[in-house]
Formats: sequence, C-alpha cells, structure tokens
Amino acid sequence: MGPFEQSGSAPVGVFDSGVGGLSVLKALLQELPADNFVFFADEAHLPYGDKPQHEITERVLRVSAWLRQQGTKALVIACNTATAAGAAQVRQAHVNWPIVGIEPAVKPASMMTKTGVVGILATSNTVASDRFRGLVERFDPLAHVLARPCPGLVELIEQVPMNKAAVVDHLTPVINSFISAGVDVIVLGCTHYPFVADVIESLAGPGVSVIETGVPVARQLVNRLQDEGLMRTQGLHAPDTSRVKFFTTGDPQHFAEKLQGLMGNKWQGSEVIRVAV
Ligand code: DGL
Repeated sequence: MGPFEQSGSAPVGVFDSGVGGLSVLKALLQELPADNFVFFADEAHLPYGDKPQHEITERVLRVSAWLRQQGTKALVIACNTATAAGAAQVRQAHVNWPIVGIEPAVKPASMMTKTGVVGILATSNTVASDRFRGLVERFDPLAHVLARPCPGLVELIEQVPMNKAAVVDHLTPVINSFISAGVDVIVLGCTHYPFVADVIESLAGPGVSVIETGVPVARQLVNRLQDEGLMRTQGLHAPDTSRVKFFTTGDPQHFAEKLQGLMGNKWQGSEVIRVAV
C-alpha cells in the first residue's frame, strides 16, 4: 500500500446537499463497476447555494470528517457549491485521502463553442465564488462566459413529484437570455441541474449543446485511485443497488422517494438512514 492507510476494498464517500449528487453517483456506478459507495445528502442544510459561504465551508468540513470516519478510501464532493466553498479546506484537513471535487465545465465549453459565447447555470454561491471567477478568467480569451445563478431551481428539483411546469417557467427567461446573446454551449454548473436537462435542451433548441460533469469527475476519481493503488477489482457484477449505502440529515422516507423518482424503480425500497452530523 502507498502512503494511504485505506485499502482498495473500502467504499468511496460521496456527498451533496441533496439529490444533485445522484447525477454524479450515476456516473460513478458506471465508471467504477466494482466499487461500493457511501452517499450522504445534507438535506437538513439544503440549499447550499444561497447560504453564507462560511456556513457551507463548515458543513463541508463536518460532513467530510464524518465520511472519513466511516472508513471511506476517497471522497467525491458531488456539489459545485461545496467544492467552491470548501474543497481546499478539506484537502488541508485530510492530506492522506484522495479528494475529487466538481466545478463548472468552463474549459470544455470554451473549447467547444463556435459562437464564442458560453452560458453557465450554477447556484448564486458558485457564481460569486473566487474559484469560479478564477476559472472564468483563465478561459476568457477563448470564450465570453455568461454566468446565471438560478435561485429556487434546486428546491424545485428536490420536490416529489417534480412540478415540470414550474421548472419551465423558472428556466424560460434564463435560457432566452442565453439564446439572444448567441450562446451555443450551456454548462450545467450544479449537480442538481442534469435532472432538468431535458427542459433546458428543449428550451435551448437543437443548435445548443448542454454539458454536465458527472462522467469526467468519475474518470478523474478512477485516475486518482489507480495512482494510489486503491482501485477495487474484486466484486464486479454486483447490482448497483447493493453497492450504495444512503445517509441523510433530513427525512429518510422523503429521500427514498426522490431516489426512486430520479434514478428509477430499481432503487425502490433502498434503505436510507438518518444521521445527525
Ligand atoms: N448540487 C449543488 C451544486 O452542485 C447545489 C445545491 C444547493 O444549492 O444546495 O452546486
């Protein structure tokens, strides 16, 4: 084993404020077919996107410490807002623990655009963060970036059943403003938004690409685990539903309903455990 005390058979910790992290979990299950996961939804503190930055940093540190105590071999911060507010601090607090965060795909979008105008949808906190500002500045010569916060959208996505008409009303003015500015690539800069990608795609029309970051993040984790000799190779072919343990600081029954609604019927009956962290 390398400098890491963990073993390859330990699970990977994944967290978000709520169901957004499930869009990343989907990619993780696909790209790491032998691994197990501990998924943590911090629903008692949702949404992260509109809270003071220092509160989010504190939550990120607490939740990460809890996930480490569970014996996880690595951490995926499956939340753009949490990454911007706390990834650097978590890395400082846990030096011997591979940590992968997520940030809006400004670079791929800047390389894809033909009109030179890219639209980013993210939470207010992500858009206001230094980390995001730095990212935009780095790719400024390649593309003009229009970043739009969508306060209230995360709460709509957290509802079961989702009120699609309200989602359309919420997104229509934002997507229209992108189209009139010449945007041809839209980045989903919040892990909740892939669950309304169909709405965004139909409002934007066929000439616009909509991109998300679940798969690149999962591949980045694979690279990190391979580098550290922590990749799990045994246990292939276990069903996805047996590879994840779910925890929430909110209502477990409500989370279980959202899990089934967003990820499909095979997740029906998954156990969700409430924890105070
Ligand atoms: N899913 C989170 C993200 O990627 C944000 C959700 C929230 O505002 O709580 O930014």
